[in-house]
Amino acid sequence: MDFELTEDQKLVRDTARDFAQREIAPKAAEIDKSSRWPAEILARMAELGFMGIAIPTEYGGAGLDPISYAVVMEEISAACASCGVIMSVNNSLFCDPVYKFGTEAQKHGPLTEVASGKKFGCFGLTEPMSGSDAQTMVTSAEKCEGGWRINGAKNWITNGPHADYVIVFAVTERSGGKVKHTAFLVEKGAPGYSQAPADHKLGIHAAHSCTIHFESCFVPDSAVIGKVGDGFKVAMATLDGGRIGIASQALGIARFAYEQAVSYAKERKSFGVPIAQHQAIQFMIADMATQIDAARLLIWKAAAMKGEGERHSLESAEAKLYASEMATRVAHKALQIHGGYGYSTEFPVERAYRDARITEIYEGTSEIQRIVIAANMLK
Ligand code: CAA
Repeated sequence: MDFELTEDQKLVRDTARDFAQREIAPKAAEIDKSSRWPAEILARMAELGFMGIAIPTEYGGAGLDPISYAVVMEEISAACASCGVIMSVNNSLFCDPVYKFGTEAQKHGPLTEVASGKKFGCFGLTEPMSGSDAQTMVTSAEKCEGGWRINGAKNWITNGPHADYVIVFAVTERSGGKVKHTAFLVEKGAPGYSQAPADHKLGIHAAHSCTIHFESCFVPDSAVIGKVGDGFKVAMATLDGGRIGIASQALGIARFAYEQAVSYAKERKSFGVPIAQHQAIQFMIADMATQIDAARLLIWKAAAMKGEGERHSLESAEAKLYASEMATRVAHKALQIHGGYGYSTEFPVERAYRDARITEIYEGTSEIQRIVIAANMLK
C-alpha cells in the first residue's frame, strides 16, 4: 500500500495547481458573478491536456491515469468549481464511455475532438420525471431505415448549451415488464435536436446546463455506443467513473473553503487574540482538515481501482457520498469562522458554500450513493 503520488503524478498536480492558482483563481469570482462561460480558461485547460486526461494520446487525450485525473480535478475545483465540473463532464461522462464502449470511428472522430478540447461533450441521462430512478426514462428510439429516430427530452445537462456532442440514453425495447435502453452519440444540430435556454442555479454559475429536446431526431446506426440494449449498463459504468470526478470536485471546493477559513482565522482578532487561538475555532479547523484528508484517501482508492481495471462501483459511491457531504459541512464551518463577513459576497467563502451543495445531488444523490453502497454490502 502506497499513500504517495508517483513522481509523474506529483508533476501533474504541481502543474495543475500552478495553472489553477495563476490563471483561474483570480477570475473565479468574476465568472461566478457574471455566469460567464469561461472559454479562454477552457482553451488553456485543453492545451494542458485536461479535457481528456485519462484518454490515450492517439485519441487526443493526455494518456494519464485516473489518479492524475482526480488530482487535477481537485486543483481546478479548488480554484473554480464551475471549471471543475465542465472538465469532469467532458472527461468522465463523455470521453470515458466513448473510449470504453465506442467504435473506432467514434474514437477517431468525436472522442479525439472532445478529449483534445477542440469540442465539448455532455451526457443525457436525466429527464424531467426521471432522475434517481434512471430506468424510468421515457425518451425512446425507434428503429428506422439506416438508423434510429429519438423522441424525448433530457434535462439538467451540464455543458449542454455549449456541447457539440451528447450521449443520449433512450428506451429501445419494451417487452412485458422489461425495458431495454441504448446509448447514442448525437451531434448537436442533428435534425430534430433543439435546446432550451440555460438553467438558473444556486451555484456553479459558469457551468451552464440546459434541457435538450429530441423530436424525431434521426441518428444513423453508427451512432450506437456499445450494444443495442446495453445502454443502462453503459450509463451505470460511466457514472462509476463520474462519481470519482464529482468527489474530487467536492474535495477541491472543501479545500478552498478550509484554506480561506485558516487564513481568516489567523488574521481576525477577537477578545484580544487572533481567533485561530480560540479552541472553538481550532476544533473546527481540526475536523475540517481530518475530513478533507479522509475524502482524498477514499477518492484515490476508487481512482486506483479504476486504473487497475477493477470494478469500483462501491468505492466510487463511498468517495462521492463522503466527499460531497464533507464539502457541504466544511463550507458551512468555513463560513461560520468568517462570521458576518462569510455571509457577504465580498468574501469568496460564500461561493464555496453555494458550489458545494450540488455535489450532493448530481451524478447520483447522496441517497442513491447509499443505495449503491448498501446493495454492495448486502449482496
Ligand atoms: N456497472 C455496470 N452495470 C451495472 C452497474 C454498474 N455500476 N450498476 C448496475 N448495473 C447493471 C445491473 O447489473 C443490472 O443488470 P441486469 O439487468 O443484467 O441484471 C442493470 O444494470 C440494472 O441494475 P439495477 O437493477 O441495480 O438498477 P436499478 O434500476 O435498481 O437502479 C440505481 C440502480 C443505482 C438506483 C441507478 O438508477 C442510479 O445510479 N441512479 C442514479 C442516476 C444518476 O446518478 N443520475 C445522474 C445523472 S448524470 C448527471 O448528473 C450529469 C451532470 O450533468 C453533471
